Amino acid sequence: MEGAGAGWPEPVVRVQSLSESGAATIPERYVKPEAERPALAATEAAEGGRIEGIPVVDLSSPCDPATARAVSEACREWGFFQAVNHGVPRELLRRARGVWRGFFHQPMEVKQRYANSPATYEGYGSRLGVEKGAVLDWGDYYFVHVRPPHLLNPDKWPHLPPELRETTEQYSREVAALCERLMAAMSAGLGVGESRLQEAFGGAEGAGVCVRVNYYPQCPQPELTLGLSSHSDPGGMTVLLADDRVRGLQVRRRGAWVTVDPIPDAFIVNVGDQIQVLTNATYRSVEHRVVANADQERLSVALFYNPKSDLPLAPMPELVSPERPPVYKPMTFDEYRLYIRRKGPQGKNQVNSLKATAVVKPAVSMGA
Ligand code: OGA
Ligand code: NI
Repeated sequence: MEGAGAGWPEPVVRVQSLSESGAATIPERYVKPEAERPALAATEAAEGGRIEGIPVVDLSSPCDPATARAVSEACREWGFFQAVNHGVPRELLRRARGVWRGFFHQPMEVKQRYANSPATYEGYGSRLGVEKGAVLDWGDYYFVHVRPPHLLNPDKWPHLPPELRETTEQYSREVAALCERLMAAMSAGLGVGESRLQEAFGGAEGAGVCVRVNYYPQCPQPELTLGLSSHSDPGGMTVLLADDRVRGLQVRRRGAWVTVDPIPDAFIVNVGDQIQVLTNATYRSVEHRVVANADQERLSVALFYNPKSDLPLAPMPELVSPERPPVYKPMTFDEYRLYIRRKGPQGKNQVNSLKATAVVKPAVSMGA
């Protein structure tokens, strides 16, 4: 039996249990409205037409101005890139994937000990948002805070497999250091000096780091649902370790969905809403989603690098001028993240709702 899960609007069902039940159809709760379905055939046809993939950026010389230019160009044009030669050891990537696969492959009663609630989202979860009756995504996840240190709570981390905690801590340390290098390159590429963006985040000490491990089980009807609905990431930037075997991530590009073809051991980096706000929309957080897969499970490890959470964030003055007035009004990340935690993934509605000049009424309002 699976409990209602404190604070969730209805009993929590693990997608993995649905998948392992062997049912040939998915429950109604996971069936997306037609307009949101992945239209797998259309996507594959487009790939046959060789549409351009997300840019690839070589980070072997992080301080080289050419690296800052390449990072900056990718953040302006795509909001996404694959980072190669990023300096995080391949062995650590392998271990991070391995321990988390190990976690999701444990018996359900072991995983249930870590069931999360919408109060903090930390732990084992199966939905984003607390709207009763919402259509759900075909995926489970595990969410942990790593920084700032007072939010690191090992009691909420799995005890098994035995190397999970140490590996996750080591992995987060290395990837957070990579984020600091990327912040410097992104900042230099704006022409505001390489430490400016990090300062706007409240310094490296104030920055938040959390990890969300996504587990997408096999799905008997992938054409009707999504592993993760369209959203932009609410935080600063995201560094994703995609599955090494199974594709699934798609990025919105000029109205179409581009499937990412991960380079082995590369990271997929994307701009989050807070960097879009701070850069006055020079860098863009872009919608993305995950399609489900009939034949294989898929695992990804997302590390979110976020600004200090109680700092009101607004466009940096250097990027504001009479010709380019501030696009967004100030808000702290603590307030901002409540939106996705209540409403679940909603495309780019949230960042649009922050627009200072309310020309377009937001589709969904924060206060609801
Ligand atoms: C996320 C996300 C993509 C993936 O966790 O925010 O977009 O491929 N994940 O799992
Ligand atoms: Ni995302």
